[in-house]
Amino acid sequence: MNLLKSLIAILILTLAALGFASSAGLSYLLTVIIPYAAFAFFLIGFVYRVVQWAKSPVPFRIPSTCGQEKSLSWIKANPLDNPSNVLGVIGRMALEIFLFRSLFRNTKAEILQQRLVYGGAKWLWFFGLLFHWSLLVVVLRHLRFFIEPISGWINSLSVLDGFFEIGVPTLYLSDAALLAGLSFLLLRRICAPRIRYISLFTDYFSLLLILGVVVTGILMRHFFPADLLQVKNVALGWVIFSAVDPQGVGTLFYMHLCFVFTLMVFFPMSKLMHMGGVFLSPTRNLANDNRRKRHINPWNAPVKVHTYEEYEDEFREKMKLAGLPLDKE
Ligand code: HEM
Repeated sequence: MNLLKSLIAILILTLAALGFASSAGLSYLLTVIIPYAAFAFFLIGFVYRVVQWAKSPVPFRIPSTCGQEKSLSWIKANPLDNPSNVLGVIGRMALEIFLFRSLFRNTKAEILQQRLVYGGAKWLWFFGLLFHWSLLVVVLRHLRFFIEPISGWINSLSVLDGFFEIGVPTLYLSDAALLAGLSFLLLRRICAPRIRYISLFTDYFSLLLILGVVVTGILMRHFFPADLLQVKNVALGWVIFSAVDPQGVGTLFYMHLCFVFTLMVFFPMSKLMHMGGVFLSPTRNLANDNRRKRHINPWNAPVKVHTYEEYEDEFREKMKLAGLPLDKE
């Protein structure tokens, strides 16, 4: 049902894109007004959520530790899985962000012949990594539309990405990888019964929306070419705040944009915010020095305490009469 709802949402967006393409007024709205509105929403929403997380009190060290803590010199510590200082934390975060290390350590549990058996589960890690890295490459390559003259490194990235020179225009490896990664992530949700059970509308919608962007992009590149001169005019127009409404650039471009702007608006409200959130996760970004340093909650409200000395002073006579032991006679 959730999959069906997200498919319907994507269909509505496709119809909306066709509407934008069909009328001059609506086309102006999509190519001149909405880009700024969507970008502003994305930026403000993203910053707002990160600030909210940054403001959350984290009075104690709560890193999730997966290795030996640093302690006595003759006990071998694990500086990455149980970092004791900032350097270790940077190493741990880098491995997490660039290589998805915690996902690599993921295991699956199964009951085989009435016994609980643990096994490796590397496919999610592999396709997840493939998806994220190729998405990054695609987005970086898109900078060619927004910059003039195009920086050398963007051209080099494009050449490297089309290294095998398959087809005309060249097939980008990142496009194939992105499609493979997305297909795996989507099929995993649809085909694995337990994952399907916990999948929500937003889980399918995020994947289908990105798939919409990717498929329309690939169609534009390989099957129904868009007028790239006009595209560059539009994109540069956005950058220099003199946006133009293109003429006859092709319906697929409108679909591509419609999906992209929806993604921008949806992003800060969705779990896609893990892109910013991963940096603020206290179970990852804190060093484990709990035993060396005493961390006192700075938000502790002052508490009126009644010490044992005060207690004994108050009840000394009665305690003496009852024969109870006293610290002070
Ligand atoms: C989330 C952002 C975006 C993603 C993930 C995305 C993804 C893609 C992909 C996968 C392709 C296939 C070819 C390639 O990889 O270059 C493509 C092509 C294309 N995209 Fe995007 N896109 C995004 C944003 C945009 C924006 C904002 C524009 C507007 C300038 C745009 C314009 C185009 C055009 C014109 C093509 C065809 C390129 C060609 O013919 O070589 N894309 N896009």
